[in-house]
Amino acid sequence: MVTVGIDALEIHTGKLALDLGETFAPAQGEDPDKYRKGLGLYASSFPDAHEDIVTMGANAAYRLLKRKGLEPADIGRIDVATESAFDNSKPVSTYIAGCLEQVFDSNFHHANKGERKFACIAGTQSLDDAYNWIRAGRNRGRSALVIATDTALYARGDAGEATQGAGAVAMLISEDPSLLELSPEQGFGSADETDFLKPNQQFPSVDGKRSVQVYLARMREALSDFESVSGSMHPDDFAYVPFHTPFPGMVRKAALLGYRHIIRETPIEAELASEIGRQPRPEAFDDESTYLDAVREYTDELKTTDRYQQWYEATIEPTLSISRSVGNWYTGSVHIARASALKHARETDRQLTGKRLLVASYGSGAQAEIHAETVQSGWQEEIESLTIDEQLDMRHDISFEEYERIHDVHNHDLSASDVDSFTEPADEFIFDGWGEMGERQYTYVE
Ligand code: HMG
Repeated sequence: MVTVGIDALEIHTGKLALDLGETFAPAQGEDPDKYRKGLGLYASSFPDAHEDIVTMGANAAYRLLKRKGLEPADIGRIDVATESAFDNSKPVSTYIAGCLEQVFDSNFHHANKGERKFACIAGTQSLDDAYNWIRAGRNRGRSALVIATDTALYARGDAGEATQGAGAVAMLISEDPSLLELSPEQGFGSADETDFLKPNQQFPSVDGKRSVQVYLARMREALSDFESVSGSMHPDDFAYVPFHTPFPGMVRKAALLGYRHIIRETPIEAELASEIGRQPRPEAFDDESTYLDAVREYTDELKTTDRYQQWYEATIEPTLSISRSVGNWYTGSVHIARASALKHARETDRQLTGKRLLVASYGSGAQAEIHAETVQSGWQEEIESLTIDEQLDMRHDISFEEYERIHDVHNHDLSASDVDSFTEPADEFIFDGWGEMGERQYTYVE
């Protein structure tokens, strides 16, 4: 069977940074620790005035194609996952292909282009589409370009404002990948939910607290569904578990519930029993609420055990490093969690070839998906090529007043055009104004 997966990836962060503890918290009259410790976030990335979902996606894709020595003819499909689209008909992938055609001598006229929407999980769904296309034998030896790009802005004053972010991840999906092979097994948890949605509006309507519960419920269903096809699991089966990360505090909750689920009926549960007892079983309780109280109590104790904390430090914490500095990138979020993990392995000289990751994606509305990935032998070279650390260092720090201005620039209803860029564009695609039919236009700046 042909191996299919992620051959390479590139990340582009929005070029502005808002420090949440230093700048945002004081302006809200809040304790910086709510952001740093509670949500687990230090900063958010924002797009500069000349950036948007197209420029960020095109910049990541261009770097990827150049680095891999590819031409448009090598790409048979371009799928963009986003929940920040500005056009209800023409997909963002056509805008990005148009940008790339400005810098290549050939075109993408024979590539199938589309746009995927299901909140944050659309990035992973696009990977699935590319995987299925290759496995079906329809790719004629070509690769797929998957780009997850979002400007994750909330309305001013919304509680979600603390978790904003902007950036893009471009991934090359190919046969015999250098980086990661995707498992054919998948688990889903999916239900019609109205916790986070954008009914013909740019900024989401959010029930933040409920969205957290919906995330956990769908993730639990996806895990059970995955186990039904993969067989039972052991926490040490996976080198890292990257989750969709709207903010690291969310992953702290999800990882604990996932761990509790996986260790049930295993020697780990038995070993921990002398310390915290066995997990409560529903049949031992007269009513559901007493059972749930007992489960909560067990979970709180589990969190304090050395065994759990060591697993969390090794398997989850390394997935959060980029997210802490950039916030929620919606469709790109789980993909930067995976990249953070691989970066950590390289920085700590961890041997990863042949090891597996468990990747837990999520999108509001709501659906979770879990699949496994096996690390391939070219992973180190691929991860060494990432420039995300340099990009993060180069970001321009904005004051609170500048944040207010840049939020207005990217507000579709205001589109404030009197704000100059804070950074000088160089070697990148930029937004260059509006065309006669209301289309957004782009140029490459040397
Ligand atoms: P909030 O009301 O601003 O914050 O809303 P909070 O009061 O709940 O505090 C947050 C955490 O900080 C809490 O921790 C506090 O205890 C702690 P927890 O109890 O939950 O563990 N805290 C402190 N810790 C230390 N020192 C302090 C301190 N003060 C407080 N001084 C909320 C938070 C997440 C609800 C809000 O930011 C929000 O609405 N965000 C947007 C929705 C969201 O991100 N939901 C996540 C799940 S849904 C999802 O992931 C999908 C999504 O990506 C969209 C998509 O799929 O397209 C969003």
